[in-house]
Amino acid sequence: MNPAETPAPADTTLTRPADGCVMVIFGASGDLTKRKLIPALINLARDSLLGREFAVIGFATRDYTTETFRKQLAEDIATFSPAPVDEALWQWLAGRIHYVRGSVEDPQAYQVLAATVNEVVTQHGGAGNLFHYLAVAPKFFGTIVEQLDAAGLARETDSRWCRVIIEKPFGHDLESARALTAEIGRVLDERQIYRIDHYLGKETVQNLMVFRFGNGIFEPIWDRRYIDHVQITAAETVGVEQRGGYYDTSGALRDMVPNHLFQLLSLTALEPPISFDANAVRDEQAKVLHAIQPLSPEDVLSKTVRGQYGAGSSGGSPAAGYRAEPNVPQGSNTETYIALKLTIDNWRWADVPFYLRTGKRMAKRCTEIAIQFKRAPFMLFRKAGALSPTQNRLVIRIQPNEGISLTFGAKIPGTVMRQGEVHMDFSYVEQFGSHPHTGYERLLYDCMVGDQTLFQRADMVEAGWQVIQPLLDVWKALPPRNFPNYAAGSWGPKEADELLARDGRAWGKMPQ
Ligand code: BG6
Repeated sequence: MNPAETPAPADTTLTRPADGCVMVIFGASGDLTKRKLIPALINLARDSLLGREFAVIGFATRDYTTETFRKQLAEDIATFSPAPVDEALWQWLAGRIHYVRGSVEDPQAYQVLAATVNEVVTQHGGAGNLFHYLAVAPKFFGTIVEQLDAAGLARETDSRWCRVIIEKPFGHDLESARALTAEIGRVLDERQIYRIDHYLGKETVQNLMVFRFGNGIFEPIWDRRYIDHVQITAAETVGVEQRGGYYDTSGALRDMVPNHLFQLLSLTALEPPISFDANAVRDEQAKVLHAIQPLSPEDVLSKTVRGQYGAGSSGGSPAAGYRAEPNVPQGSNTETYIALKLTIDNWRWADVPFYLRTGKRMAKRCTEIAIQFKRAPFMLFRKAGALSPTQNRLVIRIQPNEGISLTFGAKIPGTVMRQGEVHMDFSYVEQFGSHPHTGYERLLYDCMVGDQTLFQRADMVEAGWQVIQPLLDVWKALPPRNFPNYAAGSWGPKEADELLARDGRAWGKMPQ
């Protein structure tokens, strides 16, 4: 089936098929390809959003041929595609998937890749635009970009574009992030680099901008005069699963904070951009990150909490502690939980704390941004008896059950004047129906049409590392003495509750 024959795009913000291109996936035999990338490409094809000349080349060391790679993917999509896949559509895409076996460190393999790119372009047509997706360990990012250049596969010409998607983590601290920027910058221009953060592919995250700037009533109260504080939570019930090798060198801080949580924070706090152009939006996000007040070593001790899960339970079954997970050293001091308090030094947010927390093996899976508004300035109903004034709370639920809810006070019916808390709730699924997708469709499409809005710029990545570098330094100098300090299946260490209690606040109740 030709995508041109498929129904009109379901997502009306994406209206035209992307430019034809060859997408080269490095690390194509890994999880990301089968779980996210191929299912996302199928959804794009279904919505007529892939160019007619689109083709994929998988590049990896595993012993596949083009035929066996296609066969493997056909089995995988049955498991991982979020919606049933139309056979004719799959056949159309499968016929455009090719495979090159090779090591990313072997210059010869890039010669084979270059020859295959030429064959694929001859076979499927198009200008030979190139879209490289680096789904490999971060230590290979620099090497791949250099080798691509040596094989003539990295530079743009007047007739062909060439873009590179780089998965996180981009560096493991400030210095290494700067070094990596310099290394790939010797070959690629910033406009060719797409640093992906899959949180930006989430519908509710993108909706934050519409919610704030597409409505007239929220922006006037979106500041320190009305907002008491902000809580950002990304809680997972899973442990480190099979990723202990990677995770133990990273930890919750590096894995989640400078990337995913800072995306949520910057979109919550940014000033209205002058347009929806990539750089206009990213300029405002970068300003927020630069305005985060740097943490002194004393601040690190008083405003951050780290934790590691011990044995406990998950989904009603016993769960092992982090140190007993596969590929995790027995006495590991790597944190699987972090909570921190940040402030943003600008007119809009001065003195409004942003509390962030993320952890593995928590009681519930829940990612949300909670805006806690200030109390009413005086309690009109106090004399009427036993009233606790409601603190209005706006919760933007990113997952699961994407939606927005507002808590406010209402009179409880009856002769006595009593006030209770009620919720106004908007649910994406109830309103718009379910729209099974992987979260990568938008990001892949944007790369193919050259829109960098939802990708991180070098200065944003650097600003993120700048904020967390003091934590990395202090934590390294003072290894934790009390790990493990929370049970699997709980809400994290008690110190995280104390962090807010010291300010007279508490973490919001999570959905049951
Ligand atoms: C990844 C982290 O970037 O994000 C994982 O490396 C984490 O450790 C995941 O589990 C969380 O993503 P999501 O979409 O499930 O919130």
